[in-house]
Amino acid sequence: MGVSRVLLIVGGGIAAYKASELIRLFRKGGHEVTPVLTAGGAHFVTPMTLAALAESPVYTSLWDLKDESEMGHIQLSRAADIVLVCPATADLLAKMAAGVADDLATTLLLATDKPVIVAPAMNVRMWLHPATQRNLARLKADGITVIEPDDGAMACGEFGPGRLAEPTEIARFIEQSFPLVSGEIATPLLSGPLAGTHILVTAGPTHEPIDPVRVIANRSSGKQGFAIAAAAAEAGARVTLIAGPVALPTPGGVARIDVETAEQMAAAVEAALPADVAILVAAVADWKVASSPVKLKKGDGPPTLSFAPNPDILATLAKSPERPRLLIGFAAETNDLVANATAKRAAKGADWIVANDVSGDVMGGNHNEVHLITTTGDEAWEAGTKQAVARRLIARIIEALNAKTQLA
Ligand code: PMT
Repeated sequence: MGVSRVLLIVGGGIAAYKASELIRLFRKGGHEVTPVLTAGGAHFVTPMTLAALAESPVYTSLWDLKDESEMGHIQLSRAADIVLVCPATADLLAKMAAGVADDLATTLLLATDKPVIVAPAMNVRMWLHPATQRNLARLKADGITVIEPDDGAMACGEFGPGRLAEPTEIARFIEQSFPLVSGEIATPLLSGPLAGTHILVTAGPTHEPIDPVRVIANRSSGKQGFAIAAAAAEAGARVTLIAGPVALPTPGGVARIDVETAEQMAAAVEAALPADVAILVAAVADWKVASSPVKLKKGDGPPTLSFAPNPDILATLAKSPERPRLLIGFAAETNDLVANATAKRAAKGADWIVANDVSGDVMGGNHNEVHLITTTGDEAWEAGTKQAVARRLIARIIEALNAKTQLA
């Protein structure tokens, strides 16, 4: 696997200055960047800045290409491994959706045979406008990857979605997603103690349908699992978060897969392998219901539900040929916390169990107090926010991965 080549198209918008930071990150990761500056982009950054950071010529006009007679724009569009448009303005997205090719950038975008990724940035009203959303839907249907903009205060003074995702998030997203497309980006773009590791996290409850409108659920909010996914991403890991039905935003730099039932969660976990570390925080229903295809009627009297066991994701993973190097489960107990969690660690074949007493408001709340049960014993951690527990767990994981013998 070689160093990847990024063709970076810089559109016109106040966020264009962030393209410089992105080039710096790509170069730091050892990647080649060829910038293409649109006429609009040139109002915000100079070709000189981009050329200096990229250590590459900057292309601005279709007619500048010296070897245009030999179809230079086609070669330029294909010499790259990926084409990234950042920032992608509403105008550029509209032209891409319509297949317009009236300048160098749009011609390259039409001529390329490589994956195209867009990072939009624009005023909140422009972002929410049906025309922009229609264009985005068109582009997604055409196979173009969209890095959603952030919510927040904008340069124009308004607030909402439309602000360019942070360059570190864009770089991280590409690092995580691009190997799925072609496997050609070899060098991690971001550093951190977990750079180069893949961490799988499950979070939230599962919903087991009773009929088309009713489910059996539990009170898990997903907060603890999402905090762990966020802390792992902050430490530089590639993170896959498999989430049951929860109302939480996706942490930055995390690839999220939404599921509903335990069976769907089991299938998503299997599909996400291999992983270096798996942290199963989800409160998975142990039982599924023989669901009625039609809504149960009150007049028919109290229903008799018939249950069947769900797959045990943790126990299955422990026996899998693709077992992660470090397999961590959680135990939600209401009595005999340490004894039950210790027995659960052995029964399910996990390396570690994080045990928490859920007789209070741990499920759904913002705080947690846990014991870490390992092969060598039990550590009581002081109570704290779910973020603090997450950071401490990630710190322990880093320690363990560095001292591989502890995992034996
Ligand atoms: O989501 P929050 O509101 O933040 O709350 C966090 C939490 C309390 C849900 C979390 O900290 C927690 O304790 N998660 C585990 C809940 C649970 O289902 O515990 P358990 O003891 O039933 O399961 C033990 C382990 O086996 C868990 O890692 C669980 O993910 C896993 N399991 C369970 C059943 C099943 N069919 N498959 C599994 O993989």
